[in-house]
Amino acid sequence: METQLAIDGGSPVRDSLLVFGAPTLDEAEFDEVMDTLRSGWIGTGPKTLRFEQEFAAYVGSPHAVAVNSCTAALHLALVVNQIGPGDEVITTPLTFAATANVAIHQGACPVFVDIDPCTLNINPRLVERAITPRTKAILPVHFGGLPCDLDALQRIAGEHGLAIIEDAAHAVGARYRGEMIGGSGNLVCFSFYANKNLTTAEGGMVTTADAAQAEQLAIWRLHGLSRDAWKRYQSRRLMQSDVIYPGYKYNMTDLQSSLGIHQLHKQPEFLRTRERYARLYDEAFDALPGVRRQPRPDDGRNRHALHLYVLILDREQFRVDRNQIVAALLAENIGAALHYRALHTHPFYQNRFRYRPGDYPCAAEVGESIFTLPLTPGMSEANVAEVIEAVYKVLSAYRR
Ligand SMILES: Cc1ncc(COP(=O)(O)O)c(C=O)c1O
Repeated sequence: METQLAIDGGSPVRDSLLVFGAPTLDEAEFDEVMDTLRSGWIGTGPKTLRFEQEFAAYVGSPHAVAVNSCTAALHLALVVNQIGPGDEVITTPLTFAATANVAIHQGACPVFVDIDPCTLNINPRLVERAITPRTKAILPVHFGGLPCDLDALQRIAGEHGLAIIEDAAHAVGARYRGEMIGGSGNLVCFSFYANKNLTTAEGGMVTTADAAQAEQLAIWRLHGLSRDAWKRYQSRRLMQSDVIYPGYKYNMTDLQSSLGIHQLHKQPEFLRTRERYARLYDEAFDALPGVRRQPRPDDGRNRHALHLYVLILDREQFRVDRNQIVAALLAENIGAALHYRALHTHPFYQNRFRYRPGDYPCAAEVGESIFTLPLTPGMSEANVAEVIEAVYKVLSAYRR
């Protein structure tokens, strides 16, 4: 095996880039998109209704409302909880910008609570201390697809009269205590972005057990109109719509839902492949000093959705930082990625809230030590072997 790193002029493990999070699509999606294009109805209509119903059934929720991103889903979840100026929303700093930005959009304040360095999820033991009279909601993220300790969070929320809004952007297919993520009855927000377990290119969904809330979400997602275009068209009569809220333009189109319907049907098979590849990674990396990974419950009742396969470096054991390691993996043509640098270390959050990295030490440390490896059902076992070879090559070269 060549030991000179590609970043130093050696030959790469692969000749072309193994793209991070490439979507897995086939004729089923292509045909459905063509059918939609030919149908004459490409906006929000019958395919979106079908996608919502089938998604709700998959996660075990009475209602699902499709939107055009998880960011929109999270924003609307705050809107229907009437979270606004002066309110506080407790969330994790180890997440994508959208999770906290939506609180800012509502004029509310995201209040970070540090993560558990083992699970990488919000630490429920620290949540209670962050509650003030202004706290309105807890917004946990199922990081990478590993469900949070929802029982503990639910107990705290119940005692303090708070809403729970779950950021399940990574968690399509995850299971917690025998229930699919999305079936808790809380407002649960999913992402169907291009690299997600289930993709519609861009898209999102909110599930809820509350029929009134589902209706509100559907109105807020389309300009606050009392009836959307599909309902008006179906009635075959002149039907006026009333603007009952200053709503948003967050609806999902039937073109996107055409992808979603078939991606949804493939989820059990996709998840089996993700699990098979993740086990190959586990075997290889559990034997590699200097890295650790998230725990992965595998008992039938609890399931990691394996959206992200992350490795966490013991930085003391390496001569270079995490960014150099990811750069070296990219030079080997392995599409490694970063999820995530802790939000409180970003300029906006530092400037607005005067945060220092040490305010949330676990998230700050993990945010500098973590990197994500390619893991999609469209990869082959040979691709998995290439990723393992490259990680061994790079980490061996940089080990102290
Ligand atoms: C944890 C988390 N929340 C929210 C989002 C936003 O999702 P979307 O791109 O669908 O708006 C993402 C996107 O990757 C995410 O990782």
